Amino acid sequence: MDIHQRLCFILVFLICPMLERAESQEVSCGEEICGNVTIPIPFGIHKSCYGSPWFRVTCKGTQDGEKPFISVNGIDLEVLGQLFSPGTILIKNPVTYVNCDRSIVRVNLTGTPFFISTDYNMFGSLGCGNLATIFSNDAEPLGGCIQPICDDETSEAEAGCVNQVFGNFSSTIVNMTPMYPGAKDDSKRCTSAFLFSRLYLRGDDPLAIGNGINIETTHVPTTLSWNSSYCGDAGRRMRTRTRTDQHQQ
Ligand SMILES: *[C@@H]1O[C@H](CO)[C@@H](O)[C@H](O)[C@H]1NC(C)=O
Ligand SMILES: *[C@@H]1O[C@H](CO)[C@@H](O)[C@H](O)[C@H]1NC(C)=O
Ligand SMILES: *[C@@H]1O[C@H](CO)[C@@H](O)[C@H](O)[C@H]1NC(C)=O
Ligand SMILES: *[C@@H]1O[C@H](CO)[C@@H](O)[C@H](O)[C@H]1NC(C)=O
Repeated sequence: MDIHQRLCFILVFLICPMLERAESQEVSCGEEICGNVTIPIPFGIHKSCYGSPWFRVTCKGTQDGEKPFISVNGIDLEVLGQLFSPGTILIKNPVTYVNCDRSIVRVNLTGTPFFISTDYNMFGSLGCGNLATIFSNDAEPLGGCIQPICDDETSEAEAGCVNQVFGNFSSTIVNMTPMYPGAKDDSKRCTSAFLFSRLYLRGDDPLAIGNGINIETTHVPTTLSWNSSYCGDAGRRMRTRTRTDQHQQ
C-alpha cells in the first residue's frame, strides 16, 4: 500500500461506522426525538417514518429550543407527545376568543385524518356571565357550560367553567350568550373557549392546568385522534409507499 491507499483504508474505517450510526438514527421510527419529545408512530420526522404526509413532523428551532410541529390545513400545531392512549397525540390547540382584541387561529380538521374526540377532551370557557355553547360542523350543539357571575371576589382572569361534551368532530363554532343581562357589561368582555385534554384535569380546579389557564392563554393541551385507515403501516415498510406518494404529487 502506498500512502494514499493507506490513508483511504483508514478513512473508510473511520467514516463507515459514523455513517452507519447516522443512518440508524434516521430510521429508528417511533424513537425520533425533537427537543424533549419522542415522536410516536405513525408520525415521523424522517420520510421513511411517516406513512402519509399528514403525519409528517417538522422539528423547528424556537426561542425555547427545538419543538416538533405537524402542519394541518396550513396551520402549525406543536406536538407535546404521546401520553397513555395509543391512537392519540397531545398537541397545543389554539384557543377561540370572543370580544377579545386579538387574532383568532381557526383549526379546521375537515378533510384530514384528524379529529377531536370527547372521549379524551373536555370543553372549557373563561369569562363571566355567559352561556358558552360549542357547535360542530353541521351546526349541531355539542354542549356547553355557564360561566360564573364575576363580582369583586372573583378573579376575572381565571373565572370560567368546564363541562363534558359528547361527540367526535373536526371543526367547531363557539357561541356566547349573556346569561344575566344588566349584570355589568358581560356581553362586551373578553371571553374564550377551548377543548382541552382530560389528562390535565386536576382536583377541584379543573382549569388549573400546569401553570394555570387564564384569559391570556393562547393554546391549551388537546388530545388529537386520527382515523387509522390513513396511516397504513408506519415505519420502515412505508419507504416504498412514501416514494409513490411523492410521484403522485
Ligand atoms: C427540555 O426539558 C428541560 C427540563 O425539563 C427544560 O429545561 C428544557 O427547556 C426543555 N427543552 C425544550 C426544547 O422544551
Ligand atoms: C369517536 O371516536 C372513537 C375512536 O377514537 C370511537 O371509539 C367512538 O365511538 C367515537 N364516538 C362517537 C360518538 O362517534
Ligand atoms: C371546515 O371546513 C369545511 C370544509 O372546507 C367546511 O364545510 C366547514 O364549514 C368548516 N367549518 C368551520 C367551523 O368553519
Ligand atoms: C376513516 O377513513 C376511511 C377512508 O377515508 C373512511 O372510509 C372511514 O369511514 C373513516 N372512518 C371513520 C370512523 O371516520
